[in-house]
Amino acid sequence: MLGRLNHVAIAVPDIAAASAVYRDTLGASVTAPQALPEHGVTVVFIDLGNTKIELLEPLGDSPIAAFLAKNPAGGMHHVCYEVDDIIAARDRLTAAGARVLGDGNPKIGAHGKPVLFLHPKDFMGTLVELEQA
Ligand code: CO
Repeated sequence: MLGRLNHVAIAVPDIAAASAVYRDTLGASVTAPQALPEHGVTVVFIDLGNTKIELLEPLGDSPIAAFLAKNPAGGMHHVCYEVDDIIAARDRLTAAGARVLGDGNPKIGAHGKPVLFLHPKDFMGTLVELEQA
């Protein structure tokens, strides 16, 4: 069921400053910021070839606001794995007792593909995003 690592997401208090660190200090190519109001975040992506880093800044009423309150300098927020069929993956995981966040239905994520988030308590303390490949 589990496919490739699509991205690792890092929550940041200032996406312009964080983008500059990746671009200027680390020498990476960083996309322009993209506002995703339905997810409560502004994102940029850094393509590393084998996977991506996603930087997240809170936007409006944001699910990452509480995370940044606890981690004011920012920190690793979630990992995103690809699956071939997100509904089949969800049904298999919920049958196994895993909790899907929100109403359990996929939303369209930053890449225009359906995504779901799984409860960190069911996955060794790590928030897991699934994205349909
Ligand atoms: Co993500």
